[in-house]
Amino acid sequence: MEQLKVKTKTSSYHVHIGKEVYDLFSTEYKELLHNADKVGVFADATAASYHLEKLEQALKAAGIAHELHTLPAGEESKSPISFMSCHSFLLQHNFTRQSVLIAFGGGACGDLTGFVAATYMRGIPFLQCPTTILAHDSAVGGKTAINMPEGKNMVGSFHQPAGVLFHPDLFTTLPKREIRSGMAELIKHALISDAEWTESLLLNSDFPYFSADVLSSELLKGIQVKANIVEQDEFEQGMRRFLNFGHTLGHAVEAYFGFGKVSHGECVMIGMAYSLLLSESFGDITPEFTERFIRFADHSSYPLQAILDVDFSALLPFMKKDKKVSSGQLVFVLLESLGNPFTQKVSEKQCEHSYYELISRIKGEVQT
Ligand SMILES: NC(=O)c1ccc[n+]([C@@H]2O[C@H](COP(=O)([O-])OP(=O)(O)OC[C@H]3O[C@@H](n4cnc5c(N)ncnc54)[C@H](O)[C@@H]3O)[C@@H](O)[C@H]2O)c1
Ligand SMILES: [Zn+2]
Repeated sequence: MEQLKVKTKTSSYHVHIGKEVYDLFSTEYKELLHNADKVGVFADATAASYHLEKLEQALKAAGIAHELHTLPAGEESKSPISFMSCHSFLLQHNFTRQSVLIAFGGGACGDLTGFVAATYMRGIPFLQCPTTILAHDSAVGGKTAINMPEGKNMVGSFHQPAGVLFHPDLFTTLPKREIRSGMAELIKHALISDAEWTESLLLNSDFPYFSADVLSSELLKGIQVKANIVEQDEFEQGMRRFLNFGHTLGHAVEAYFGFGKVSHGECVMIGMAYSLLLSESFGDITPEFTERFIRFADHSSYPLQAILDVDFSALLPFMKKDKKVSSGQLVFVLLESLGNPFTQKVSEKQCEHSYYELISRIKGEVQT
């Protein structure tokens, strides 16, 4: 079992990865769970149908009773109605300020459970037990949120978990699309931090379907990148924005198609190709690298063709909702070189020009 420490101004916790992580309920997390008057497990319905037994058996072995609340699978769990039903569940089962929650699911379940934990009786501790690859990004760092009809992640807070326990066996049931989605965030972590690591991923013909051992060590590297950034900028005043690489266009594409139609990471992959292209003008990224990245994404079955018939004008309103917009201007995370991100204001005209350049490069590199 591997572990690393995340130390922010407000808290300090461990992220563990390995097949034995749930044994930690009997050791490292025994005190937290035994001292709690109630333990609530909030589980994603699909993740629970495959794997909940592993978690429940480990809790039982540690002598910890729990109440189970099953959530709708995926993004639906982040609705205001689902959020309120979680609070009602806790109240009806007499949870108090001395209670603890456990999130068992992907990023959606983790974001929801974290926000419920942040707000129930003004805040109780929670553990993250992620079940998706993407959650190597979302479970670390303490951002929690739910969606509003007006937009995604619009209501939330910063609330760091008490610990994060990754069990790699749980990833074996993920659909390929969800694997691709999570691995896009891994590539993002490589691109913003380390040229050599980026190269090794681009050259790995197994990508994105790694064996459990390779996956564990790659995820650990990704988590380390996230942890380093969060430690220095817990509340996103500066460098935490680098984690947004590829997300300005990515989020716009995701919103344009309707959330869930093309997965988050698939949209981020398109957004990263765009950011690399912009980085040719503002940094030292070469057109050859961008084209190589496009071919790599295509070979790894990311649906870059999805945007070929989409006009820039249809995406611009979504891009303008980006949290990085400053004085009405779009701000992008770009790369000076591989591993060296910076933020840059870019005019709408240049954004439009580069967008159509991206479309022509995709047409040139991808068999459609
Ligand atoms: N808090 C953050 O810093 C942060 C960062 C990135 C993303 N996010 C959020 O994370 C969410 C996306 O996370 P996600 O990609 O994990 O999506 P998800 O939680 O919606 O899970 C994706 C799908 O996989 C299913 N699933 C989960 N575990 C499974 C398993 N082991 N086997 C089979 N199916 C399984 C789910 O039921 C769902 O249908 C978004 O809501 C996004 O806003 C948050
Ligand atoms: Zn993302």
